Amino acid sequence: MSIHLLDAMSREGFEQVIAFHDRGSGARALLAIHDTVQGPAFGGIRRWSYASDEHALRDCLRLARAMTWKVALAGLRAGGAKLVLLERPAQDRERVYEALGGFIESLGGRYQAGPDVGTGDAELRALARRTQYLACPGEEGPGELAEATAAGVHHGMAAALQALDGAVDWPRRTVVVQGLGAVGSELARRLVSAGARVIGAERDSRLALAVGARLEIELVDPERAPEVPCDVLAPCALGGVIHDLSLQRIAARCIAGAANNQLVRNLHGDQLHERGVLYCPDFVLNAGALIRGVLFQQEGRREPVEAIGQRIGATLAGVLEQAAAEQRSPARVANDQAIARIAAWRKIAGG
Ligand code: NAI
Repeated sequence: MSIHLLDAMSREGFEQVIAFHDRGSGARALLAIHDTVQGPAFGGIRRWSYASDEHALRDCLRLARAMTWKVALAGLRAGGAKLVLLERPAQDRERVYEALGGFIESLGGRYQAGPDVGTGDAELRALARRTQYLACPGEEGPGELAEATAAGVHHGMAAALQALDGAVDWPRRTVVVQGLGAVGSELARRLVSAGARVIGAERDSRLALAVGARLEIELVDPERAPEVPCDVLAPCALGGVIHDLSLQRIAARCIAGAANNQLVRNLHGDQLHERGVLYCPDFVLNAGALIRGVLFQQEGRREPVEAIGQRIGATLAGVLEQAAAEQRSPARVANDQAIARIAAWRKIAGG
């Protein structure tokens, strides 16, 4: 696989891609800034062990573009970016994040960092020693971001069930939650309180047992999660879960979860549509933390999680309504809405 970076940047409208290396800590990272037409570009820091620099670059570009789409559909005055930190053994993680903080500070606020896979509270605290440009969850920052994400998924799921059956009716519903980490466990908690039957699928068996016992939910082998007949499959682990093989095994009526980039290709959204599975576009549903982070950074307020959830539910309902009217897949409709909004910003800005 080879990537022609400048061609990819022009094709997808990227503004800047920066490779960062720190001699002292050995930190190596890539930052893709997709769009800053409306304001600073927001995006979390993903720390991951990639097979090659090229895999890291591809992931970074895909995630950054998805952030702009997320911002566009959430109606925020901001832009999208992503930073991927290449995980290497035997590094002093605190020093790595401090160095990264210095790099982010040097950009003067053009990029605003946040949490993502591999970057939690401890890493953000180290980062905050060297930069002011981050949405750090907790008491000093916008609060618990994963709660906002889970609320968005929960309300979005309700909008999807309403569109499917004309009623939400949680006590009649079975939801398989794939991944019981920060977002998945909070989503499962919310669903249990609403009266739904929740089945959890978690690769980390200790975590699975702990969450299973705390919430009194059933557990299933993670490999089998897509095959479990249910109303909703909620992917809350990693992206890329819907592909040629998994698609044939999906027994859910609807897919609604937090994981970024769930579809390996847009075509898979069309194929789900053809099979009668209602797919809720991930970047619409998982915008809760972003909304909370942006409103905190820009307006200094902590938006209540229920208000964020309702906002996301309403956005998704609009996408599903248009998809039904045009008999197209919700994934295509959401993509087109995002692309149109971004084109409109750029036209106004003359860029
Ligand atoms: P997390 O790292 O806390 O939880 C993910 C969990 O999935 C882990 O417990 C992991 O063991 C499990 N897992 C990994 N592969 C699995 C598999 N094949 N089957 C079952 N379980 C598996 O991450 P977090 O924060 O809960 O995020 C979940 C997803 O949502 C990620 O894709 C993230 O990018 C996305 N997301 C998270 C946001 C947030 O506010 N935390 C915001 C937007 C998106």
